[in-house]
Amino acid sequence: MATRRLIGMLMAVACVAALTFASRTAARPQQTKPSSPGRAIAQVNDGESAARTNFLGDAACRGCHQEIGDTYARTGHHLTSQLPTKDSILGKFTDGANILRTSDPDLHFRMDEKESGFYETAVFWQPPDEKTRTERIDIVTGSGEKGQTYLYWKGNQLFQLPVSYWSELKGWTNSPGYTDGIANFDRPIVPECLQCHATYFESLPSENAENYYRKTDFVLGISCERCHGPGREHAENERLNPTAVFSGTHSIVNPASLPRDRQIEVCAQCHGGIGQLIVPAFSYVPGQQLDNYFRLPHPNADARVDVHGNQVALTQKSRCYQNSQMTCTTCHDVHAPERAAASYSAKCLQCHKDRECGEFAKLGAKIRENCIDCHMPLQDSDLIVADLKGKQIKARIRNHWVKVYATGQNP
Ligand code: HEC
Ligand code: HEC
Ligand code: HEC
Ligand code: HEC
Ligand code: HEC
Ligand code: HEC
Ligand code: HEC
Repeated sequence: MATRRLIGMLMAVACVAALTFASRTAARPQQTKPSSPGRAIAQVNDGESAARTNFLGDAACRGCHQEIGDTYARTGHHLTSQLPTKDSILGKFTDGANILRTSDPDLHFRMDEKESGFYETAVFWQPPDEKTRTERIDIVTGSGEKGQTYLYWKGNQLFQLPVSYWSELKGWTNSPGYTDGIANFDRPIVPECLQCHATYFESLPSENAENYYRKTDFVLGISCERCHGPGREHAENERLNPTAVFSGTHSIVNPASLPRDRQIEVCAQCHGGIGQLIVPAFSYVPGQQLDNYFRLPHPNADARVDVHGNQVALTQKSRCYQNSQMTCTTCHDVHAPERAAASYSAKCLQCHKDRECGEFAKLGAKIRENCIDCHMPLQDSDLIVADLKGKQIKARIRNHWVKVYATGQNP
């Protein structure tokens, strides 16, 4: 069953994490005790090190790159993790809309907005025997493009909450992979999860679990520097020498100037499937070789369509990729919000003529309007399934393997 597979996957993440924990602690470099928030040193095994103090945060970049800063603020990347507010949480707290019933008549969930925050409560049994368990929503994950999942702190440990929001349903639903009718507040949030959905969290060493983090020192959203590397030197240089003639280096990584493999790896750190960390999370610096930090799943093992799938491996299977210098940014401008799928047809036509398409004879120039739905079809994800009162809702994902699909094909 698909649900079971998702649980399997999430368990696999947890297991991989658990298995690597021993070796990882062994390999973990001595971390300098932070003297103030944000001062931890992340070291990596090839001798490169990037002091956290060299990372400035997006506000510093926006001062000089205002246009990019403004459009970037509306992207899924920027919004993929946020503090809880009335706006950032897409689910409703109004009476009636704040209840999620389950297949068990003796369990429902209630979402409440209070002075002190936003809460999820599991309500067991009926009055007068009613019992409840309540936790506060502390972090919102997911911009809501497809959905959102909520996290809570228990001491210094971070856990996932049982009720998520699913955009297609415009409402609350069981968190993906959770069994309907069970209130599970115990799923730990592993560093891999945060590494893809946030800018920085500092792990706290612990013998028994790896979901301990410094609560006073984390950065939500995906920052400019996750793709450009630490910006302090660049910002200082540009500030001191604003009129200096461009000397070929701006002391900051521009992915466009990297060799193609390094450029793809900037995206692969998060779009290459669920891999395995071999150094502490958040160590990778753009421009470095990713496999010194992270074991990506084998391209054939994981090149499937999934919300946590592998756009990199699928793109790389395409003949377009193999026979050109195509990269992710051939089609995507990551500084601005996503556009309508069909509009990407213009990108295809940079390299192809409509006449090359076998359907041209039949459909004529009309095919120019939408190459995408035929050659990069939307397909059901097997893995993200919200099990709502027995009903299964699957995410729909673009297959990045650009090729000829039989009509209705959905492998
Ligand atoms: C004091 C102003 C200033 C600040 C602060 C600043 N930049 Fe720049 N940046 C510039 C200028 C000037 C250029 C060169 C002209 C251009 O491409 O816009 C530049 C160029 C760049 C480039 C292209 C480099 C290349 O080699 O092609 C990138 C990438 C970049 N900045 C990213 C950032 C990021 C990320 C931050 C925040 C950490 C940041 N900048 C902060 C002024 C600044
Ligand atoms: C630090 C992790 C990370 C990196 C690095 C990253 N992404 Fe993403 N990306 C995400 C996450 C997480 C989402 C989902 C955001 C959401 O909607 O919550 C996403 C969403 C997207 C989307 C979907 C729509 C949108 O919001 O724009 C595109 C396209 C995309 N990424 C392309 C890229 C490309 C191209 C690169 C490399 C230049 C890249 N990403 C680098 C994590 C990352
Ligand atoms: C390898 C990187 C990676 C890991 C690990 C990861 N995610 Fe994601 N997540 C993504 C990307 C990329 C997307 C965007 C998916 C897409 O459209 O392809 C995404 C999408 C999502 C979405 C839907 C966001 C939206 O706006 O539609 C949620 C919610 C989510 N992830 C939660 C989690 C949680 C919770 C964990 C940890 C248990 C986790 N993810 C682990 C990369 C990752
Ligand atoms: C998800 C990865 C990602 C994030 C996040 C990101 N960039 Fe970029 N940036 C890129 C890539 C890739 C390029 C090269 C684009 C290309 O191929 O032309 C680039 C290019 C640039 C350039 C060179 C000029 C240009 O427009 O191509 C500047 C300046 C820049 N980025 C600034 C920023 C700033 C400022 C932020 C944050 C507000 C930011 N970037 C966030 C991936 C990213
Ligand atoms: C950077 C250039 C480039 C872009 C952009 C591009 N392609 Fe291609 N594509 C190619 C090349 C090169 C080939 C291989 C041609 C050959 O081998 O004769 C190819 C092959 C193909 C094939 C044949 C695939 C197969 O497995 O037989 C299809 C279909 C295709 N492209 C469709 C598209 C569509 C649709 C888009 C837009 C979503 C697109 N391409 C974008 C360069 C590109
Ligand atoms: C040939 C053009 C093309 C290339 C190259 C390409 N993409 Fe996409 N990508 C698309 C289109 C089209 C969509 C659908 C956009 C939409 O639905 O609005 C998309 C959607 C996405 C999404 C959102 C997931 C979803 O299923 O809705 C992510 C994430 C993404 N791309 C990441 C990447 C990454 C990472 C790379 C590089 C490995 C890449 N893309 C290369 C065309 C491309
Ligand atoms: C209605 C669906 C549909 C649309 C729209 C469509 N294609 Fe196709 N395309 C096909 C099919 C089916 C084939 C295989 C035809 C055959 O083998 O006779 C094909 C074949 C191709 C091929 C040749 C693959 C090969 O090497 O045999 C290319 C290149 C291509 N399409 C590009 C495009 C581009 C670019 C667009 C947008 C301008 C586009 N297609 C729009 C369905 C479509």
